[in-house]
Amino acid sequence: MTADDGGAGDQRTGVDWGALKAAAVHAMNNAYAPYSKFAVGAAALTADGRIVSGCNVENASYGLTLCAECALVGDLQMTGGGLLRAFYCVDAGGNVLMPCGRCRQLLYEFRAPDMELMTTQGIRTMDQVLPDAFGPQHLEEPQ
Ligand code: THU
Repeated sequence: MTADDGGAGDQRTGVDWGALKAAAVHAMNNAYAPYSKFAVGAAALTADGRIVSGCNVENASYGLTLCAECALVGDLQMTGGGLLRAFYCVDAGGNVLMPCGRCRQLLYEFRAPDMELMTTQGIRTMDQVLPDAFGPQHLEEPQ
């Protein structure tokens, strides 16, 4: 399975990567990116079968920019919460975009077991794109 595959679902996992890409492109078309002029859209399949999405939203105070993944996790929470099974992010050309470091951490928080991401190298797991991650498990009381 590559980033160029169409609408057919992944036979192994049931993930329709084509539908996720289409949702990411749709989200990207809502981007507010007057400063960078770099529109981003992200979409994800939730463990219970919803598609959630988001676009980047910039600010005149540049450092306050919200990445597309910020809007996506907000959409996740606002539409019932849960966990992310599969993730797809695109630039203005519809090309696969790797989530930035901070957003890998955002996604890690809401990962379903074996969550997958479409990357420039093909499908990768969350653990592959953010190895040895800090997460909620590190906040538990020491035994
Ligand atoms: N951006 C995202 O929305 N997600 C990422 O993972 C990488 C970067 C946005 C932030 C900013 O609006 C623009 O891309 C250029 O950095």
